This record gives sequence, structure tokens and C-alpha cells, in this order.
Amino acid sequence: MTQAPHHKVIFDTDPGVDDAMALYFALAHPAIELIGITTTFGNVTVEQAAINALYLTAITGRQIPVTRGVATPRHMAPHAPPDFIHGGDGLGNLASRIPTFNQLDPRSSAQFIVDMARAMPGEITVVAVGPLGNLALALEMEPRLPRLLRDVIVMGGTITEPGNVSPVAEANVWNEPHAADQVFTAGWNLTMVGLDVTHQVRVTRAMVAQIAQHHQHAATDALLHAVEFYAKFYTGLYAHIAQKPGCFAHDVLAFIYLVEPDLFTLESGVVRVATDGLALGQTMLNRRDFINYPQTGWGQGLPVTQVCMQVDADRSVQLFQDVLLSDWLRAA
Ligand code: BDR
Ligand code: CA
Repeated sequence: MTQAPHHKVIFDTDPGVDDAMALYFALAHPAIELIGITTTFGNVTVEQAAINALYLTAITGRQIPVTRGVATPRHMAPHAPPDFIHGGDGLGNLASRIPTFNQLDPRSSAQFIVDMARAMPGEITVVAVGPLGNLALALEMEPRLPRLLRDVIVMGGTITEPGNVSPVAEANVWNEPHAADQVFTAGWNLTMVGLDVTHQVRVTRAMVAQIAQHHQHAATDALLHAVEFYAKFYTGLYAHIAQKPGCFAHDVLAFIYLVEPDLFTLESGVVRVATDGLALGQTMLNRRDFINYPQTGWGQGLPVTQVCMQVDADRSVQLFQDVLLSDWLRAA
């Protein structure tokens, strides 16, 4: 009998509405074992990100280690959190929260990643869906990290799709471009799930309402509230979202890649990040590696990233729906 695939995952995140969607997909998917949630600033402050990670897991009845990570980028001033997309609390300004008692793991996010990777060499995948400061710091603490982790999957960046914080930049990379460039050149088995695919996939508000209706649970009610807030913002921005309000499947697609990589078409090559100027945070893929460019930074031998360029949107959304409608929720 063949064994079902099993993925031990550290989820590096800045919850965040689509982060919450991704977290619940991961908790609900039988092949994913979340061994820790490492938080970073991004959609909200790192303090709020940790509070949200603790809350979102606690109300599902789970006890998963949650750590607090980097609070600001190390090499530049931080951008303001996008409260107009995710709400001031990151979850669409929840009217109230159920009291919960999960405690933060005292380690930093970077320390947690290093400790787990050393304890389980070759076993762990990091799914990183926020700015990449925690991973960059972990790499500095443990230079062998690329060999100690099984895979790294990053939701971030964009190659041909227009950016969402500038014409060329995606938010996670733009928030910590220096860290992102460290991550893209570190030499792990790295896959980038960027706007090229995440802008092709949307989870509608109607689908999340159906999921909430099905479970009648505080966790899916909170998710619906968050998605409604997010959908309202994007409804005012894009005509196709106004027609079918919903949430881009940014962060959840990183997990969908983990469990169903065949839904994606990939290109591979060296990816570098612009760390200043008008193109701040742009992710550039070298598709002409046979050219010896006079521009520095594109020399031979740099690590290669697999970049998701196309996705089967219908099957991705179907998978999200099936997994979230399964029997995965316990009482808080
Ligand atoms: C990414 O930025 C954040 O706002 C989302 O949570 C996602 O990780 C999309 O650009
Ligand atoms: Ca995120």
C-alpha cells in the first residue's frame, strides 16, 4: 500500500485575511501537519499577527506553537500596514473575540525555525506568506538551513503580472526586499508562488458563506467576517471582483502548491529583488541564463528558484472548497 504524502510545515505568516484562509486550509487538509506558526509584521504589526495566529488556532481547538518574529525591516523604514484591506486588527475588525488561553512560544520566529530544522533535518517545509525577515534571520543564525529544510515555498513576488503595491512589486517582497533577495539567493529548494498565479484565483464571499453556514462555528464565522471586509475593498477597485466579490487566494495557493503541485506550470531561473529606487521590491527572473550580462548580480552559479507562472484556477478553488467543507473543526 502506498502511504499518503505527509508534509510537516512551519507556516511563516502575517495574518491577515488571506493568511487566515490559508491557515484554515492547512489545518483542514489531512496531508498537512502544522508544527508551528511563525509570525512577522506585514499586514499588521507583529504583535497583532501573533495575537491573530494564537486566536485563529485556539478557536479551532488546536494547540500549535506560535512565535513572534521580526517587527520591522532591518534595512529600511517600514511601510504602514494596509488596514484598509485587512482591517486594523488584520481580520476585518472583528466585533468581538472569544476568550482563549493559548500562550506564545517564547522563542523568536527565526530561532524556532532553526531549532525545528536542526531537530528534524530534511523533513520540514517552510511555507512563507509574509515579508521574509524571519527566514533571512534564520539563515544568518544557521547557514546550513537550506540543507536542513526540505523545501521553502514563498507566496510573494511577481514576474509578468502587474504588482499590487507598485506597477512591478508585490506586497510581501516590497515590505522586506533585502530579506527577500537573501531568501531568493540562499540555495534551498525554493518555489515562488507570486501574483502571476494568485491573481488568477479567487475565493468568493459566497463560497466562504457556504462554508460558514455548513460548520456553524466561531472559526468559520471569523473567516467570513474577514473575507467580507477584504472583498469590500477590492470590489471598489476591480470590476471583475465587484461582479463576484471575494478574496484573492494568495496565501492559500502556497499550500495548494504544496499538496497539488501538478496544478501549476513552472519556469525556473535566478530570481533577484530590487532593493531600492522606483522598482523597490520588484522580483526579476533571468530567462536568458546563457547571456553573460555586463550588469553585476546575474553571474553564473546563483541558486535557481522555481516560479509558478500558470495555475488551474477552477481545480484550486474546488480543492479549497472541498477541504474547508470537510469535518475538521473541533469545539474551542
Ligand atoms: C500578499 O500580501 C499580503 O497582503 C497578503 O496576505 C499576501 O501574503 C499578497 O501580495
Ligand atoms: Ca500574507
